[in-house]
Amino acid sequence: MGLVSLLKKKNRTLLFTTPSHSGKFYIFHKFYQWYRFDISETDTHDPVSALSQAERKAAKIYGSKYTKFLTNGSTSGIIGAVLASKVKKILIWDNAHPCHSNAAKLAGCEIIEYKLPLDQEWGVYQAITPSLITEYLQEYSPDGIIITSPTYEGFAANVEEISRICREKGVKLIVDEAHGALYPFSNKLPESAVKHADYTVQSLHKTAGGLNPTALLHSNDNDPAEALFMINTTSPSYPLLATIEANINYLNSRKGRKKINELIENIKALNLPSPQGGDDITKILIKKDGISGYELSKILFEKYRIEDEKTNDISTMLLTGIGTDKKKLIKLQKAIEGIYNGKN
Ligand SMILES: Cc1ncc(COP(=O)(O)O)c(C=O)c1O
Repeated sequence: MGLVSLLKKKNRTLLFTTPSHSGKFYIFHKFYQWYRFDISETDTHDPVSALSQAERKAAKIYGSKYTKFLTNGSTSGIIGAVLASKVKKILIWDNAHPCHSNAAKLAGCEIIEYKLPLDQEWGVYQAITPSLITEYLQEYSPDGIIITSPTYEGFAANVEEISRICREKGVKLIVDEAHGALYPFSNKLPESAVKHADYTVQSLHKTAGGLNPTALLHSNDNDPAEALFMINTTSPSYPLLATIEANINYLNSRKGRKKINELIENIKALNLPSPQGGDDITKILIKKDGISGYELSKILFEKYRIEDEKTNDISTMLLTGIGTDKKKLIKLQKAIEGIYNGKN
């Protein structure tokens, strides 16, 4: 039985267990459904087995050896991956999300930081290339490396080639694909690392319709269960875990894939200034001659009430995902047209 079905089952046992709200005592009335589904791991219906089953099914969908549901974001996925990999000397990007260095510190690794070139045209970091990987592996001889692909702004690495190089050198590859959770479900987006890398981490909550802070850790190497046990609570939120199961089933369904395709086609149909930055069309990277990215971001916010995801000196990035509909995109296009046609 899946997690969603299990939570819908009526439990006729009188529970003298945690959680003591008993699914009926609602301090926050608006969240009464949340309380109803908030069961403990000891529940009669055995949610622990249902979770294992749901994770095994997810691994089949993704084509990975193991897939683990995370309710503490990609942050916990990266920490889990580094711990599970058992690497001793790890290469991390000096501008990566702080969870990379925290993971390496927690695992007691020797840390070597590498640099990435800045894309002068867009003011953002480029994705790591196979030739840079070869150079860094030769120079530092690590037994593990974490790369970020795609970058925040949608620059994607050649994960297949990089995995091949790492495998050849016996180096464990961990890919932070936090911003690429839609990639396994569309061939119009950059290729996902899930089937190639030793470990891949994805935030479902960033682009794939998941609730904060749902995420996934995929492994083609060791089973991350033991590592995750060291950092996770022993009282997980089954409602959140069930949303992960439902989220994956949706992304993998015809309806879900169609929705991703619709998002891509809707963005393609927009009349946006060219060229576009990045390899991932769902991260709309724009810039305008004569004004900085920060000024562009300020106009978008103050004049059009549009908030971007990330801005730098040159460009600004508007993040879209499975929940971004055509109406919202057209509003963005109108704002951009206004700015580019000099109405500011
Ligand atoms: C590249 C990257 N990796 C990891 C994380 C951590 O993700 P989460 O918020 O799901 O823990 C983030 C969050 O912004 C991120 O941008």
